[in-house]
Amino acid sequence: MIVNERIVAYINSLQVEIKPELLSLEKEALERHVPIIKKETQGLLKFLLCLQQPKRILEVGTAIGFSALFMSEYTGDDSKITTIEKVPMRIVDAEKNFSNEVFSHKDKITLIKGEALKALKDLASEEQHYDFIFLDAAKAQYMSFLPELMKMLSTNGILVTDNVLQDGTVTNSRYSITRRDRTIHTRMREYLYTITHMEELETVILPVGDGVAVSFRK
Ligand SMILES: C[S@@+](CC[C@H](N)C(=O)[O-])C[C@H]1O[C@@H](n2cnc3c(N)ncnc32)[C@H](O)[C@@H]1O
Repeated sequence: MIVNERIVAYINSLQVEIKPELLSLEKEALERHVPIIKKETQGLLKFLLCLQQPKRILEVGTAIGFSALFMSEYTGDDSKITTIEKVPMRIVDAEKNFSNEVFSHKDKITLIKGEALKALKDLASEEQHYDFIFLDAAKAQYMSFLPELMKMLSTNGILVTDNVLQDGTVTNSRYSITRRDRTIHTRMREYLYTITHMEELETVILPVGDGVAVSFRK
């Protein structure tokens, strides 16, 4: 946890509770150790969606579909959400959830099954555009996803990248972490430097959840 636990608990206690069907999916994910967006990240996403009112949303990293179903609650009836997942076990669960009648806005969601980089290249070559992109997949790949995402992020669009501070460990000494984490951290720092210094983007990095970068395309 990046921010003091008591402060986070207090902020979360002020949030209006999500619908019971989403709450039970969140509970199921947490019990099964499926990594989904934290409460505080939910609050930020909800706020940005209300502000931006996006029509076309792209998510990289579906897991079992929690965040896609969450976003479907806070976007207009004419919005569409495309989400990408590569792990077969997760795909099975996501498909089950996306066809569950309890989720009243599930029809907005389209699941693309497979490796994200390939899916992103395909979408970019079809000249698809998105006004809201939520990047929540393998952190080490963010740099390779970025050129494809930039082809598809509309002017005035928002790119939200989750987990950018690795729960605060991104600044740990390189000697105190494993070699795998060292590689992830190096790539994450490169990604963060890039999105904060790109002319096309205005980016803010927030210590929310595991760290969230919010980038606005000028
Ligand atoms: C943190 S979880 C996503 C959680 C989800 N956004 C939520 O909050 O409900 C990351 C997911 O991205 C998927 N993933 C990671 N790298 C990927 C890639 N290169 N292509 C497609 N999916 C990927 C993982 O299998 C995992 O299910």
